[in-house]
Amino acid sequence: MAIRVIRTKEDPALREVALEVKKITPQVRKLLDELAETMYAAEGVGLAAPQVGIAKRLIVIDAQDQNGLLKLINPLIIERKGKEKAPEGCLSFPGVVGEVERDEIVTVQATDPDGHTVQICASGLLARAFQHEIDHLDGILFVDRVTCFISDENREVGREEA
Ligand code: NI
Repeated sequence: MAIRVIRTKEDPALREVALEVKKITPQVRKLLDELAETMYAAEGVGLAAPQVGIAKRLIVIDAQDQNGLLKLINPLIIERKGKEKAPEGCLSFPGVVGEVERDEIVTVQATDPDGHTVQICASGLLARAFQHEIDHLDGILFVDRVTCFISDENREVGREEA
């Protein structure tokens, strides 16, 4: 296992639309383990494969709740309810925090590393993390959705243009 380098800011890898994973190979499982290891080393809540330069639909999340570490393949949001604004950050944008409106409750369907279909209904931090990480798979970054920058080392606070 290895800790991967997390791509940041303008890295074009972050804008790629990731491809569906058709077969769960040992390499896919190893990559999920490495994503988890990289996420924990960076003290993040979630990490998506494009953030380490791999355009595959793989995410890991640990919202420190009863679900523990989630390693998900081809995750999809199949149900959404309500709206909620909260501060958010991203391992690809160190030091940047902004308010983002997300769906309050989401149901995610995905394949786990054993090939089983799983459905997880989430609210709070986990719901937010699902939406944030699945966005990464489509090349969408949280800074695209920020309505108000709260803390930003790299840009002027409150600037509307990114
Ligand atoms: Ni992120």
